[in-house]
Amino acid sequence: MRIVKFNYREIVDEVIENMDLKNKCCLDATVGRGHDSLKIISKLGEKGTLYGYDIQEEAIRDTKKLLLDNGYDNFKLFNKCHSELEEDITSQLELIIFNLGYLPKSDKKITTLRESTVKAIEKSLNLLSKSGVLIIVSYLGHENSLEERNGVEEYLKNLNQKLFLVEKREFFNQKNNPPIVYLIGRR
Ligand SMILES: C[S@@+](CC[C@H](N)C(=O)[O-])C[C@H]1O[C@@H](n2cnc3c(N)ncnc32)[C@H](O)[C@@H]1O
Repeated sequence: MRIVKFNYREIVDEVIENMDLKNKCCLDATVGRGHDSLKIISKLGEKGTLYGYDIQEEAIRDTKKLLLDNGYDNFKLFNKCHSELEEDITSQLELIIFNLGYLPKSDKKITTLRESTVKAIEKSLNLLSKSGVLIIVSYLGHENSLEERNGVEEYLKNLNQKLFLVEKREFFNQKNNPPIVYLIGRR
């Protein structure tokens, strides 16, 4: 894997690849078509659990099928907003991912939104384990995306530096607003 990354996917893949997720609980806060979920669950072993959220039934259905088709059943998917995650999850989380925006090949007007995204990030951070990592992938271009990114940045910028490390990774010379990846861990 190259050191200087070409796109956000390489950053996410490297994080997942380098983490020890065996028997751990993880959260995919925006399952979409299930691609991130599949990568994560393949590292959990039988005793790990993947939690996943999406407000679109289509996304939950596709993700469930993808995971089952690949031989995994150690997951719990919720067709609801990720900002209500405290109703379902009490375990410590080793890896959390928010891949923000809209469901590819679907209605581009159904997107993650500033208020619920920030609320969900805050609630999931409370569950982040000592060695855990929270990944946020933020795209621009769709309605509300800039407002959401500003909200996410405002929240992350104000996280207590004595408690959290926050890294922002962007593709500085690429055109057309490439996604930004934020990585958060505990100090
Ligand atoms: C960019 S897609 C995620 C891609 C996905 N991780 C994958 O690997 O295919 C963003 C997803 O967030 C979902 N979403 C939007 N608002 C949400 C919310 N409040 N809670 C949970 N999911 C939400 C959308 O329905 C969409 O499927």
